[in-house]
Amino acid sequence: MKALLLCGGEGTRLRPFTHTQPKALLPLAHQPILFHILDTLAATTIREVVIIIGPNGKPIVELLRKTNPWGFDFTFVDQPKPLGLAHTVLLAREVLGNTPFLMYLGDNVLDEPLRPLVNRFVREKPDALLLLRRVKNPRHFGVARINGQNVVHVEEKPNEPQSNLALVGVYLFSPAIHQAVQVISPSPRGELEITDAIQQLIAEGKNVAYHLFSGWWKDTGTVTDLLATNQYLLKKLTSAVDGEVKKSTVKGVLRVAKGSTLKNCRVKGPVTIGAGCRISGATLGPYVAIGDGAEIVDSNISHSLVFTDAHVKGVTFTNSIIGERVRISGQQKTAPVRSLLVGADAILEL
Ligand code: DAU
Repeated sequence: MKALLLCGGEGTRLRPFTHTQPKALLPLAHQPILFHILDTLAATTIREVVIIIGPNGKPIVELLRKTNPWGFDFTFVDQPKPLGLAHTVLLAREVLGNTPFLMYLGDNVLDEPLRPLVNRFVREKPDALLLLRRVKNPRHFGVARINGQNVVHVEEKPNEPQSNLALVGVYLFSPAIHQAVQVISPSPRGELEITDAIQQLIAEGKNVAYHLFSGWWKDTGTVTDLLATNQYLLKKLTSAVDGEVKKSTVKGVLRVAKGSTLKNCRVKGPVTIGAGCRISGATLGPYVAIGDGAEIVDSNISHSLVFTDAHVKGVTFTNSIIGERVRISGQQKTAPVRSLLVGADAILEL
């Protein structure tokens, strides 16, 4: 089996951060979202990964050409415009050939081993196997209706959902999907929907099976979801201090990469600090991930992401994302900030 990993799209809901890097490369718990996904795929038998790349996706190609600890065989397919999930299947037709494939949406993070799912697909050979999860807000997702072991209806973000079973962004398809994506037309929002292609399979009497899971899952489409995913991933870390920690108190899990120093700090884990950071007089945590080369002085940070080479001095903030190379400084009496979202290279004096 191959994997088709969708990293196209424009990430408009995650601006300003997606102005400077593709959504899949935003780091959570010190790793790009894409790496969390590739870790999940690496635990299956899949070795060939086809990646859909949007107009701002060049950094993905460059990074994976340099870094491939999973030993995947990558092929990149350009999608100049995000014309829909089914459109990516049309584009990847040639590289996918007649092999069944696992389609994975590049903004979904889930805590569910995919190996059993892949094994079941190979064993039972349905035309599609969908991953479903019960949700409170089905209107925000593709929604499936089931009958016994089969999916009997799917619909994209319906106003009147027929169930509370959402389609998680992981699908397994036989080559039958290639005919289905050819006969559908764009939806009212102008996209070729994969849900319409699946509905086409159902209409043709094909076998569309499902796996219902109840584990942790997030579509990291918004800032709130990004921070929640960061929090979940941080909770799973264990302590590892390769840098220097001096005159500081540490409670809970702390990771400090090589070449970083923490001095006169109070840490309430989980907190992860990248390589080459200088941190002093700071109160950090819980749920803080700091990128390589950052400098944090006399600040108090919780529930936040601070990206590579950012400099933060004299500020207190929570539920925030600070972009790469941002410079933020506060006066002594600067009030705590509840949510700061600052795109790359910005300079802020509070
Ligand atoms: O997260 C699960 C949901 O994902 C499903 O329940 C829905 O049925 C499915 O349509 C999808 O909904 P979203 O609105 O979240 O899809 P989004 O447009 O955010 O695209 C998902 C990923 O696929 C995202 O990382 C970008 C990528 N993508 C998207 C489009 C439209 C592409 O690579 N190319 C595209 O043309």
